[in-house]
Amino acid sequence: MPFSAASAYAIEDLRRAAQQHLPRAIFDFFDGGAEDELTLRDNRAAFARLRLLPHVLRDVSVINTGIDLLGQPAALPMAIAPTGAVGYGRPGGDIAIARAAAAAGIPYTLSSSATTSIEQIADAAPGRLWFQSYIFKNKTFQAALIERARVADYEALMITVDLPVGGKRERDQRNDFSVPFKLTPKNTLDFALHPAWVLNVLRRGLPVMENLRGLEQASPKPSSTPSASAIATSVGKNYDTAFDWDALQKLRDAWPRKLIVKGVLHPADAQRLADMGCDAVVVSNHGGRQLEGAVATLDALPGIVQAVDGRIPVLLDGGIRRGSDIVKALACGAQGVLLGRATLYGAVAGGQAGAERAIAILKDELTRTMQLCGARSIQEIEAGLLFEPKR
Ligand SMILES: Cc1cc2nc3c(=O)[nH]c(=O)nc-3n(C[C@H](O)[C@H](O)[C@H](O)COP(=O)(O)O)c2cc1C
Repeated sequence: MPFSAASAYAIEDLRRAAQQHLPRAIFDFFDGGAEDELTLRDNRAAFARLRLLPHVLRDVSVINTGIDLLGQPAALPMAIAPTGAVGYGRPGGDIAIARAAAAAGIPYTLSSSATTSIEQIADAAPGRLWFQSYIFKNKTFQAALIERARVADYEALMITVDLPVGGKRERDQRNDFSVPFKLTPKNTLDFALHPAWVLNVLRRGLPVMENLRGLEQASPKPSSTPSASAIATSVGKNYDTAFDWDALQKLRDAWPRKLIVKGVLHPADAQRLADMGCDAVVVSNHGGRQLEGAVATLDALPGIVQAVDGRIPVLLDGGIRRGSDIVKALACGAQGVLLGRATLYGAVAGGQAGAERAIAILKDELTRTMQLCGARSIQEIEAGLLFEPKR
């Protein structure tokens, strides 16, 4: 049966629809985490451990969900997190999410590993754009990539610092979602069972990491249009594991607009980032895909909020699936949250309508939670709304 976005009432409905639509190898790549997936699960469990202590008898007939996010208004305390290889789930998926973000009045972050280019997104999506970059060994390539984002008017550069090497993602290993992408008897059956996905891909061609064209030229097997699966490993080889504080300071000094650092969990690191002039930090463990055993982001948040002491905004991602998750993160001191898989599942299941549905579900739940807590504006979401049950 074709997917109807209106029939999804929760992010979990969109997740299930994505699961039905996709070959298992692709779904697992989006859905999975590192090793035993402890951190992946704990991101969600941390929200479940924390309860709300609502105020009543307040006039909640008008609710304002707007905030100032990095000096500009956002209609909701949210932005889209960077996700690479989206085109594997649905051709044009990056544009679908970027347009949904623009329609909702929230910033969209394009991944350096995206299957749509910096320029294509700037042309196709009218809203606020941030560009995320990993750090590559090839410094000429790195500088050119960032310069493209500047020329295309991206308002912020987001540097992801939790991926000097890739996490050990065993679902991908078991599904042979690696390099080279092997068509095994297991995969063939998997793909044969998803003809709609196969047809879509055959019609549009295998996704390409558009922003990384040319990166491979320095490697032993040059290719100007590497497929997403082929580049997954080669990019790994191209990451700069030596990237450090001095190198980040040089990037900070060279980039003239807002600089966001994503993948911070330690309060001392957050404090140093605020000291060196970064404009925001994202408390993130990469959605449980990198360091297995890393602390849940909601648990790491209070220490970071304390460390930066209001000098720069603190954003959080990881496990946001409910409006109440957003209220809890904000009550713990985050200024906003990033959406990773929530909009990814939506876009894979239903293109732009699916991504819009994901944001609409979270907006509705956020507004309802605020009304039920007696919080009429984002400023009224504060620590007094939190209750940590004694177990
Ligand atoms: C399929 C997938 C691809 C991702 N690609 C990137 C990426 O290219 N760059 C990056 O900084 N983070 C990437 N992330 C991490 C997200 O930006 C974000 O930190 C994470 O998804 C948040 O957790 P959530 O999915 O539970 O919301 C990716 C996550 C997923 C699920």
